[in-house]
Amino acid sequence: MRKLAVAAAALAFGVAASGAFAYGPHDPNCVECHSIHKAKGKGILAVAPLTKEKNPSTGNQAAGDVALCLGCHNDDQGIMPISLMATHPVGMKPNKVKVPAELLKADGTLGCMSCHNPHPSNPNYKYLQGQVAKGSELGKFCSLCHSEQVDQSSFGKVAAPKAPAAAPAKK
Ligand code: HEC
Ligand code: HEC
Ligand code: HEC
Ligand code: HEC
Repeated sequence: MRKLAVAAAALAFGVAASGAFAYGPHDPNCVECHSIHKAKGKGILAVAPLTKEKNPSTGNQAAGDVALCLGCHNDDQGIMPISLMATHPVGMKPNKVKVPAELLKADGTLGCMSCHNPHPSNPNYKYLQGQVAKGSELGKFCSLCHSEQVDQSSFGKVAAPKAPAAAPAKK
């Protein structure tokens, strides 16, 4: 535990020193998302999963990591709300699109965490699973799965994706 705190402090210092907000707004001290002894959801999540919204991709209520993220990212909380009716398909097994296996969840579905790793160790723009040069190369990210639509020559070689939900960086 102590070691972890030191590593987190070192990371925070790194960010401050570079003058960038590279590690995003999620709690660097973990406990806004994970409650060590009073969890409300899977993965000792501190926030109750929000399942009331219907997922148009499945016809069922939100589940899994989708519900975990919606626990904060909803209209009531007002934290960058995400509405499943207006969002890229999530929560289902890909039909046509070829998704790299390491980006799919264990059950073969595409989740929020297929595209985002929300951990404070992820320095990428919007916690994406790939580097997109602060958003100016989003097409490069799309090409991880939609290579047919993307002009590869615009971005050069696409970096291999990191595994989803990766534990905080080991360095
Ligand atoms: C924005 C919310 C959020 C923050 C902040 C956050 N986590 Fe997580 N973490 C998650 C979610 C969501 C999962 C996946 C839970 C699941 O699907 O069971 C997860 C999973 C994990 C896991 C399981 C292994 C893995 O990576 O899937 C560990 C360990 C973990 N987090 C540690 C941490 C630590 C340590 C911190 C602080 C540095 C932290 N988390 C901060 C949301 C968060
Ligand atoms: C405990 C509440 C909480 C949970 C759970 C949570 N977030 Fe967040 N998230 C926040 C807050 C707070 C912000 C910052 C909002 C702002 O700046 O207005 C944020 C911002 C973000 C951003 C924008 C980052 C940026 O750099 O602008 C992304 C992307 C994001 N969250 C994705 C996720 C995903 C994916 C999950 C589920 C794995 C998740 N969040 C779960 C609280 C949460
Ligand atoms: C197919 C990939 C993909 C999936 C799946 C996905 N996102 Fe995102 N998300 C993105 C991209 C790309 C951006 C950045 C868009 C931009 O900057 O215009 C983003 C941005 C965000 C932001 C920041 C919004 C803002 O106003 O800046 C939040 C919060 C977020 N996503 C949460 C989620 C949640 C919650 C889920 C699951 C319900 C999810 N995402 C699923 C790709 C995805
Ligand atoms: C991790 C893989 C992945 C990434 C990255 C990704 N997508 Fe997708 N996308 C999918 C899957 C899976 C589907 C659903 C089609 C299917 O079932 O095969 C989809 C569907 C779509 C659709 C069709 C939506 C509909 O309702 O018919 C559009 C448009 C789309 N994606 C755009 C994007 C854009 C733009 C980006 C980049 C910002 C992006 N996607 C990034 C996997 C991905």
